[in-house]
Amino acid sequence: MFSKSKSLGQSKPATPAPATPPPAAAKPALSIKPGGATAAAPPPATKAPAKNAPPVQTKAEHEKQEQFYELKTRLHRKLVEQLDITKISGDEKELRSQIRELVVSLLDQENTLLNFTDKQRLIDEVLDETFGLGPLEALLSDPMISDILINGPKTVYVERKGKLSLTKIQFRDNDHLLHVIDKIVSAVGRRCDETTPMVDARLPDGSRVNAIIPPLAIDGAAMSIRRFGADPITWDDYIRFGSVVPQMVEFLRWCVHAALNILIVGGTGSGKTTLLNNLSTFIPDDERIVTIEDAAELQLRQPHVVRLETRPANIEGKGRITIRDLLINSLRMRPDRVVVGECRGPETLDMLQAMNTGHDGSLTTIHANSTRDAVQRVETMVMMSGFELPIKAIRQQFASAVHLIVQAQRLTGGPRKLTTITEVQGMEGDIITMQDLFKFEQQGVDENGKAYGQFISSGIRPGFLDRLKAAGCPIDPSIFERQVLPVASPE
Ligand SMILES: Nc1ncnc2c1ncn2[C@@H]1O[C@H](COP(=O)(O)OP(=O)(O)OP(=O)(O)O)[C@@H](O)[C@H]1O
Ligand SMILES: [Mg+2]
Repeated sequence: MFSKSKSLGQSKPATPAPATPPPAAAKPALSIKPGGATAAAPPPATKAPAKNAPPVQTKAEHEKQEQFYELKTRLHRKLVEQLDITKISGDEKELRSQIRELVVSLLDQENTLLNFTDKQRLIDEVLDETFGLGPLEALLSDPMISDILINGPKTVYVERKGKLSLTKIQFRDNDHLLHVIDKIVSAVGRRCDETTPMVDARLPDGSRVNAIIPPLAIDGAAMSIRRFGADPITWDDYIRFGSVVPQMVEFLRWCVHAALNILIVGGTGSGKTTLLNNLSTFIPDDERIVTIEDAAELQLRQPHVVRLETRPANIEGKGRITIRDLLINSLRMRPDRVVVGECRGPETLDMLQAMNTGHDGSLTTIHANSTRDAVQRVETMVMMSGFELPIKAIRQQFASAVHLIVQAQRLTGGPRKLTTITEVQGMEGDIITMQDLFKFEQQGVDENGKAYGQFISSGIRPGFLDRLKAAGCPIDPSIFERQVLPVASPE
């Protein structure tokens, strides 16, 4: 009854996809313990010229590093040869200490001039190579890092507190990096090789991974890791960081509770998925939620959730399951809510139709630079669906489907904020009418180069206030009066 209007047409039927699963990655890994450590082939010693400029090194430093790598490779190889899997038991901690002893004894047999610190580093790196993801382990254990960006084997950037910096972490060569990529993607049943040179995957802790390798990546394999970590950002963090004010959170809580259809917009890395995750926490526990994503990033806590993930084509180019296929399927799963990680193609039309045909309370994100830009993006994406819909019809679909648009933005100097909450009111002629309810007004940049400003309520009462009241929302209408909303305690 609360649907803004009904749909214009039927969605295109899903293309039937064969049920062939994608083959597991070809490279076999020697498994010590199921789900635990692996001692795969050592990083190969072949040299591949890296075209990405590494930090400048003197000749002596370079030689020392090469010797270090050679020793590490040799130790790793000996370790793999000497491991007797049948005698290995115990949990990962115990296993690690057993293998450390073995590595120490192997190192003692080497005639090396390494000092104590370098020896310890060497042992740690051999263990990281054996149990984990080699050079990445040091970065993955740092909770302050939100992104790890690898541009070829010698250039690794990280993002901390919204700022990018180059690290000293390096892979031995392109083959070493490819080996680590293979370890990551094969763990989730995917592959990354010449026939499938781009892949999405995730780490066991939920971090999202994208890898793209030569020949598509011209200067060596590139991998981007988006970390959510064991400690995801919560609404308390948003308030503590000054990303939002409590009144806006309270308002959003009731919008989700009252099953408004909400679109999250923002640029790359602006915080869309984090916001989607947090908005989803407001979905009541007794509702059935279906989530649809390319690489599962959402971490919903509700008891009744079905998680769906897309699948790339297999080696013969068959078996691809898209967001659109899953979305169409999900509508037959009796969902109370459909949460789509990101609409970036023809599935946008299906999403609008789902929102218009009784699946209220749906949430999704799209890549757009403002709440108004979102309309244009949706128009373009709907056109990609192959339906020859006139622009006006697409706008009508949009205006009747979407109730609220929330914008996430990464501002100058790194702070991420919810910069606009906009109500979609309807159509006037050919134009969609919208009103900004809350806005962040940037006033300047502080001495650390970080944007600062204030949140304001723009003095407009949303048209759906009655709907919020009907859902039991005790919201105080005075928050819609024009005013500056004080930030609780900015970081
Ligand atoms: N309000 C916030 N304050 C601080 N950090 C945040 C905030 N929101 C998100 N982040 C961090 O910013 C990074 C990017 O967030 P997120 O993945 O949600 O962005 P996104 O817009 O979905 O990115 P993409 O376009 O790559 O999918 C993450 O590491 C996340 O933990
Ligand atoms: Mg995202």
